[in-house]
Amino acid sequence: MQIGIAGLGRMGANLARRLLRDGHEVVVYNRTLAKVQQLEQEGATGSSSLDEFADRLRWPRAAWIMVPSGRPTEEMVLALADRFEAGDLIIDGGNSYFKDDIRRARDLWDRGIFYLDVGTSGGVWGLSRGYCLMIGGAGEAVERLTPVFRSLAPGAGYIPPTPGREEDTGTAQEGWLHCGPAGAGHFVKMVHNGIEYGLMQAYAEGFHILSDAGRMGGADYVYELDLAEIAEVWRRGSVISSWLLDLAATALLEDPGLAGYTGFVQDSGEGRWTLHTAIEQATPVDVLAAALLARFRSRQGNTFADKLLSAMRDQFGGHKEPPHDD
Ligand SMILES: NC(=O)c1ccc[n+]([C@@H]2O[C@H](COP(=O)([O-])OP(=O)(O)OC[C@H]3O[C@@H](n4cnc5c(N)ncnc54)[C@H](OP(=O)(O)O)[C@@H]3O)[C@@H](O)[C@H]2O)c1
Repeated sequence: MQIGIAGLGRMGANLARRLLRDGHEVVVYNRTLAKVQQLEQEGATGSSSLDEFADRLRWPRAAWIMVPSGRPTEEMVLALADRFEAGDLIIDGGNSYFKDDIRRARDLWDRGIFYLDVGTSGGVWGLSRGYCLMIGGAGEAVERLTPVFRSLAPGAGYIPPTPGREEDTGTAQEGWLHCGPAGAGHFVKMVHNGIEYGLMQAYAEGFHILSDAGRMGGADYVYELDLAEIAEVWRRGSVISSWLLDLAATALLEDPGLAGYTGFVQDSGEGRWTLHTAIEQATPVDVLAAALLARFRSRQGNTFADKLLSAMRDQFGGHKEPPHDD
């Protein structure tokens, strides 16, 4: 089917490529035109402005926005809505806050324009592995976009059906799911990313213990452990095998001391929204909270709090800090 992609960054360009490979007609737009020209060479129909983008899409249009959440997405949705007509469909595939989706879907609905929020997981590997899609919005719009979801999702592949689901014909086994009404897709994706933070933090801390292995804290043992080998063995049959562990194994093989990284870890919003939501619902999320705070911590050296702790120990017990270089 014909679909537009607006935003040809790491995600949008590969979404377009995966759709082209499956025979879809893809109309592309990007703020920086060089990326449009690149995709034109790969078979897409390019457009040099949003007006041209809207003109090249046939009614009822479907346009997938893949730009940073917040203001860029908001502006793109509004700009497209101004160029679209009743019956057209706007899809936000970025990592938007689900409450923004609820508002946008309602506003667009009043103008007869459909809106779907599609949490899209797969990162730079999605082109080859497929994207896991978590979808919110009207069933009619989801139905219309089914050929696109089928092409983007991984499909059942080599993953055996969950026992009891052998006869199941639901789309979840293909890697895409209509989760509920407006916002539900990004709500599920938000929690997915919150879990991702927690899993990553657990691996990171576990490997930290292995890397210290007695050399810190005056322990009475020392092990020289090969972390890349341990990651590799855990990939095979252990209960903590996962794709994140696969990626950790690759990183440790490429750079065993991780010398290419400072350890300054960004967060991109979803972890914070997961906590906001948990607080709103009074849902206890100890691990997810700790994982987010660990990222904040990663961006600071010894903090003011650390200094005050040290000062108080000194005050009550005369505990002096050990000598250090700086
Ligand atoms: N990377 C991931 O692993 C991943 C995974 C899942 C979801 N996502 C989500 O997918 C979306 C895109 O991520 P990405 O990784 O593809 O980002 P990216 O590589 O940084 O690309 C961003 C894209 O958005 C465009 N853009 C940025 N600001 C804009 C603005 N103000 N107006 C118009 N266009 C603008 C950029 O255009 P220019 O080329 O002109 O700069 C570029 O095409 C985000 O919402 C992100 O959270 C990312």
